[in-house]
Amino acid sequence: MTSGPKQSGQQHWEEMAATGLTDLSIPVWRRFCDELHQSILRDWTGGRHFASSLKTDLFDEAVGEGLFGWLSAVSDRVEGIDVSSGIVAQAAQRHPGLIVRQADVRRLTDHPTDSFDLIVSNSTLDHFEGKQDLPVALSELSRTLRPGGVLFVTLDNPRNPVVFLRNRLTRPWMGSSTLTPYFMGHTLPLAELSRRLTACGLQVERTGYLMHVPRLLFLHACRLVSADSWAGSALLRTMHACEWGNCLPTRCWTGHFSAVLARKPIR
Ligand SMILES: C[S@@+](CC[C@H](N)C(=O)[O-])C[C@H]1O[C@@H](n2cnc3c(N)ncnc32)[C@H](O)[C@@H]1O
Repeated sequence: MTSGPKQSGQQHWEEMAATGLTDLSIPVWRRFCDELHQSILRDWTGGRHFASSLKTDLFDEAVGEGLFGWLSAVSDRVEGIDVSSGIVAQAAQRHPGLIVRQADVRRLTDHPTDSFDLIVSNSTLDHFEGKQDLPVALSELSRTLRPGGVLFVTLDNPRNPVVFLRNRLTRPWMGSSTLTPYFMGHTLPLAELSRRLTACGLQVERTGYLMHVPRLLFLHACRLVSADSWAGSALLRTMHACEWGNCLPTRCWTGHFSAVLARKPIR
């Protein structure tokens, strides 16, 4: 087992896996998150096929379909890591073809340099206690990316007023609260994320914002409907329609996540 520099972070996710995941498995919301991420990944990676891919946490795969279906369609080999053994176990049970490993994304000691052609890190790196951990994780992901490979990273967008307020009201040392069911850590604005990736030797190819739907409102609405119902389908369509917010100049404030696709140059 690879343990993280701060054991309390891992302990929090182990407790979440043991007690809290059922409450977070909201089928309509999960389907929306999965479809949204697949859509931007499909668009940004442009139909490319990958020999080996890595997903940096297995939360989505533990509570729903996650991105495994898309990743396995575009990659010969798909590996997923998570710091929590409970989340790893639940993801492995749902997705028998997924290669899983308990590991800390800040310290990929079992992963050699130049291992992956695609790395997908959707909102894993914004859950760390220490401010210095995010750049450390970016540098680990850059190291394990093969030359020519691409890294897709999303982080909570601190320019979104809801994220801004939540991060002010729930400090890292407070852990989870009624505003967030789980631990929220430090994040970076899009420009700073791009700058850090460039400093790691990667070339930033695409940047943007995603999830423009008013998140808290729709997250709760999703609890009230079943995924297979007419209301569930209508809600899903409405949430996808909100992504038109990405065409507006206000996108840097409405997007819940900032996203970057960066390539490791061929030496
Ligand atoms: C709240 S989930 C959110 C991520 C999810 N992909 C999403 O988009 O909603 C955070 C996940 O990151 C995992 N995690 C937290 N710290 C980690 C670390 N240092 N290394 C790997 N996984 C970590 C947690 O166990 C959890 O599964």
